[in-house]
Amino acid sequence: MKGVILAGGLATRLRPLTLVTNKHLLPIYNKPMIYYPLEAMVKAGIKEVLVTSSPDHAGDFANLLGSGEQFDLKLYYAVQENPKGGISDAIMLAEEFAQDEKVLVLLGDNIFGFDLRESVEEFEKSEGGAMTFGIEMPTESKQYGVIERDGKGKVLSIEEKPENPKSNIAQTGIYMYDNQVFELIKNLTPSQRGELEVTDLNNLYVAEGNMRCSMIDWWIDAGTSYDELLRANEMVAEKVRSGELE
Ligand code: G1P
Repeated sequence: MKGVILAGGLATRLRPLTLVTNKHLLPIYNKPMIYYPLEAMVKAGIKEVLVTSSPDHAGDFANLLGSGEQFDLKLYYAVQENPKGGISDAIMLAEEFAQDEKVLVLLGDNIFGFDLRESVEEFEKSEGGAMTFGIEMPTESKQYGVIERDGKGKVLSIEEKPENPKSNIAQTGIYMYDNQVFELIKNLTPSQRGELEVTDLNNLYVAEGNMRCSMIDWWIDAGTSYDELLRANEMVAEKVRSGELE
């Protein structure tokens, strides 16, 4: 199974921090943000990872991460020409890289501790379909995708930033897809905010009855706001001090 880390976008919510650099290069306590999804790939047992980024900063990622040897990974790079293209547009860049394998996709600003290895191994053996990872929020959340699932983990619906959330399960930026993902993306049209949405893609799998949702424990989307960025720094610092993280 191949890995894809999405590190493009304009990160307007974090300006001026992101005026001259890419969000995923900002620090989370003792490391650049992109290290966290990379280390999650390593823990998951993935050996080859494609990093997609924006034209302005693609070179910075190559400077920082090189061949991937320091992580015991083989890294590849792709440029998303339209930084406002959306998550599904960026996933599409992995079509050739993935060849006929399944893919684990991580948003580059997602910080979490969950070990994906078991899920990856199971998904690899499975017939196909897709898997999204959810987290129970203390209150209903209107700023994320919201997942409705049955007692066995089958997804019934996903709504992007809904006015009236059907559950308190937020969709994280961790996804696994079979190889038909690229054909499915070709059928998507831009949303109201002009992006090819990951939720629209995931709902194509939901419509086929082929989307499952696993739950994870702690997770932060560090790119949402200054406060979430700060909270990610504080949480990681605490976990490094307690020895839970390096
Ligand atoms: C994206 C997805 C959303 C998901 C979130 C997780 O939102 O569209 O479903 O909950 O990532 O980080 P965006 O950050 O593009 O607003």
